[in-house]
Amino acid sequence: MPKRRATITAVGHYVPEKILSNRDLETMVNTTDEWIRTRTGIEERRILEQGASSDMGAMALKNMLQNRGITADAIDLIIVATVTPDMFFPSTACLVQEKVHAKNAWGFDLSAACSGFLFALMTGAQFIETGAHKRVVVVGTDKMSAITDYTDRNNCILFGDAAAAVLLEPVEDDSGGILDHILRCDGAGERYLHMRGGGSLHPPTHETVDKRMHYLYQDGKAVFKVAVVGMADVSAEIVQRNSLTGKDIDWLVPHQANLRIIDATAERMGIEKSKVMININRYGNTTAATIPLCLSEWWHAGKLRKGQTLVLAAFGAGYTWGSVLLRWTAENAA
Ligand code: UT7
Repeated sequence: MPKRRATITAVGHYVPEKILSNRDLETMVNTTDEWIRTRTGIEERRILEQGASSDMGAMALKNMLQNRGITADAIDLIIVATVTPDMFFPSTACLVQEKVHAKNAWGFDLSAACSGFLFALMTGAQFIETGAHKRVVVVGTDKMSAITDYTDRNNCILFGDAAAAVLLEPVEDDSGGILDHILRCDGAGERYLHMRGGGSLHPPTHETVDKRMHYLYQDGKAVFKVAVVGMADVSAEIVQRNSLTGKDIDWLVPHQANLRIIDATAERMGIEKSKVMININRYGNTTAATIPLCLSEWWHAGKLRKGQTLVLAAFGAGYTWGSVLLRWTAENAA
C-alpha cells in the first residue's frame, strides 16, 4: 500500500487595504525609496489599521474554505504560525476557531518566526499521515506593524501585515503531496533577531518600554549572511537528495525577507528567475504569511497548477530555517 501523504488541497489569503509605500516611509525616517528598493526589493507593504492577527487569519481561512467549497465544521485541527499573537493566551488558533465557527476543530499556535509556516505545515502533515485527522488547516498570520519600531530605519522598512491559509488533506495514491522536508534551528541566533520584552525573561515594566524592548530587534547584516547560506543550503540539499535538479522544479517559493537572499537561493539551485515566486515588492516581509501568500496569489492567478513540483524555503528568527519539497495536487483555479 502506498504511504498516506498529506497534500495541500486549497489556499486562501487576506491582505489589509492600507498601503505604506517607500515614499511614505521617507517622511517618517531618514531613508529613500531608492535605498529600500535596491537593498531589499520592497516597494510597499500593507498595514492592518484595526484588529489583530486572528482577524486576518480568520479572513484568510474563510477565503480558503470558499475556494475548497467546504464549511468550517469540516475542519479537525487549526495550527496558527505567528510571532504576533493577539495575546499570550488564549492562543490565536482558539480565536480564529471561534471567528470562523470551526466547532469540531482543536488548535494551537506555533512559534518559529519566518519559518513558522514550514514548521506548522510539517506539524500538520503528521496528523494527516498518521490518519489521525482528515482536514488540517495551517494559517500563517502576522501583524508585524504591532511590533515594528517606526523610528528605527534599519527595520521599519522591512515588514508588513498579512495572512494566508492552506488546507491539508490525505492523498492515498502516488500523485503527489508533501514529499520531503528539512527543518533546522540554532538558538545561537537569538542575539541577532529577537523581541526580548514582555515574556518571562523581561516582563513588562516602564524600563522595558523605555528601552524599546517590545519591538523587534534585528542585526540585519549578521542575519543576512547566515540567511543567504542557510536558505540556499537546505533548498539545494532537498533537490539533490531527491535526485532532482533545478530544471525539475516548477516553482521556488521562498520566504520574502530580501530580494537579494531570494536571488542567491535561486542561483544556487540553478533555477531561472521566472520560476521563483516573488511578491516582496508589494508586501515586504510578512513573517509567517509570506510563503502561503505566494501560493495563494499564484494559484488564484492560474499560474500554480496541478502536477507542478515546488520547493518552499524559509529562514528566520531562532535561527530557524528549512525547505519542503511537494507536488501540487489541488484543482486549478476556475
Ligand atoms: O525574515 C527574517 C530574516 N531576516 C532577513 O533575512 C533580513 C536580513 N537582512 C537584510 O535583509 C539586510 O541586511 C538589510 C536590508 C536589513 C540591510 O541591508 P544591508 O545591505 O545589509 O545594509 P547595512 O545594514 O549594511 O547598512 C548599510 C548602510 C548603513 O550605513 P553606514 O553604516 O554604511 O553608513 C546603514 O546605516 O545603510 C544604512 N541604512 C539605511 N539607509 C537608508 C540602514 N537602513 C537604512 C534605510 N535607509 N532604511
